[in-house]
Amino acid sequence: MKTISLKTSVPGPKGQKLMEERRRYVARGPFHSTPIFAARANGSTLEDVDGNKFLDFSCGIGVTNLGHCNPDIVNAVKEQADQFLHTSFNIVPYASYVEVCKLLTEHAPGNYDKKAFLVNSGAEAVENAIKIARAHTKRNAIVCFDHAYHGRTYMAMTLTSKTKPYKYGFGSLNSDVYRYAFPYEYRWPTEGDVSEECFKIFVDSVTSQISPDAVAAVILEPVQGEGGFVVTPKKFMQKLRDFCTSHGIVLIADEVQTGFGRTGKVFAMEHYGVAADLITTAKGLGGGLPIAGVVGKAEIMDAPMDGGIGGTFGGNPLSCAAALAVFKQMRGGFVLKNAEMITSVLEKTLDSYKDKFSCVGDVRGLGPMRAIELVKDRKSKEPNKELAGAITKECYQNGLIVLSAGTYGNVLRLLVPLTISKEELEEGMGVLEQAIKKLS
Ligand SMILES: Cc1ncc(COP(=O)(O)O)c(C=O)c1O
Repeated sequence: MKTISLKTSVPGPKGQKLMEERRRYVARGPFHSTPIFAARANGSTLEDVDGNKFLDFSCGIGVTNLGHCNPDIVNAVKEQADQFLHTSFNIVPYASYVEVCKLLTEHAPGNYDKKAFLVNSGAEAVENAIKIARAHTKRNAIVCFDHAYHGRTYMAMTLTSKTKPYKYGFGSLNSDVYRYAFPYEYRWPTEGDVSEECFKIFVDSVTSQISPDAVAAVILEPVQGEGGFVVTPKKFMQKLRDFCTSHGIVLIADEVQTGFGRTGKVFAMEHYGVAADLITTAKGLGGGLPIAGVVGKAEIMDAPMDGGIGGTFGGNPLSCAAALAVFKQMRGGFVLKNAEMITSVLEKTLDSYKDKFSCVGDVRGLGPMRAIELVKDRKSKEPNKELAGAITKECYQNGLIVLSAGTYGNVLRLLVPLTISKEELEEGMGVLEQAIKKLS
């Protein structure tokens, strides 16, 4: 039986009316990739105010990895709401915050003592990871990479690569931030070994422009999220790890988008055989509730003085209850097993697109975190942003919510719920394939 059910054209009349109100009362800045208004959501599906039922392959940008309104998460939040809503961990602590930190330390790769602390958003986690790294090393310079996305607060925005819309017009950025080439294999300008060549650029640049002993941290995403699901090659990560170790530099893995099963493991760093010193986490950790954190080497995490890091809402009790339910399901086995099914279906389907559609320049990913890069011409690799936009529109008009990404806006990224059934997955991929076929 089909899951998608459309009762009106998309957006429907109620959605259109709400959008008029939205335009009137909500600032222009926040963008919607899908012009519908949510009424309710469950598992892999989302129903809009016009009664249209969509398959959601966005998971609210990689958050509801365990499906919408996962019953364990909803029950945990309801139970916590009956106990207390807020005390502020900085005023009166509570056990669930400590338990979330304990679980983060147990799951983050790295064979050493770890500690964690909690905040509200991915950007806030990034800000704090940088503060902790600077406090620990007593150095200033931070190295980040092309195509990176780390959030919208000032340091996170400075670390983010793309100017429009993220940085444009917002004034001075933070100082002591250096950006170097990222090993983007598909767009690497030579036929050589991308990891070797890119690492050489990195070492030469750090040495000549900064000096390794002045670098506090190197931050990167194991798989670039907003950058278009570009996977950091294992060799490059391992070389970075060695370099950071030999120069006392803190290696930060920004796992805000890659965490909590998105790449088939709790943390994507598990694929790399080396550990970061600090990991930033958010999104999937709360399964739909706002929570984020930094986890890493205890001696580094303890660098800020008492009261040096924190905030009013960080690790809110409702969010901690949700995170504990997320961890329980991560440990339960089904989610990561189902991620294997998703990986194999997506890998096979996307590989077939390379043969079927000349607009598909590259397909890539790690585990179920998969993407399609669209080009105008395979030889020139000219990005086809317009086609990506048209396909996402065609998809939602036919009941599938899917997102674009990438520095050039030409990547379709699949963030499917990790609890999805094979039937739902195939139904959604059918809509996507029809859209590509029609528009390419
Ligand atoms: C890798 C990465 N870091 C940081 C962020 C910022 O997270 P938030 O939007 O929760 O501030 C994001 C958000 O997409 C992300 O993908």
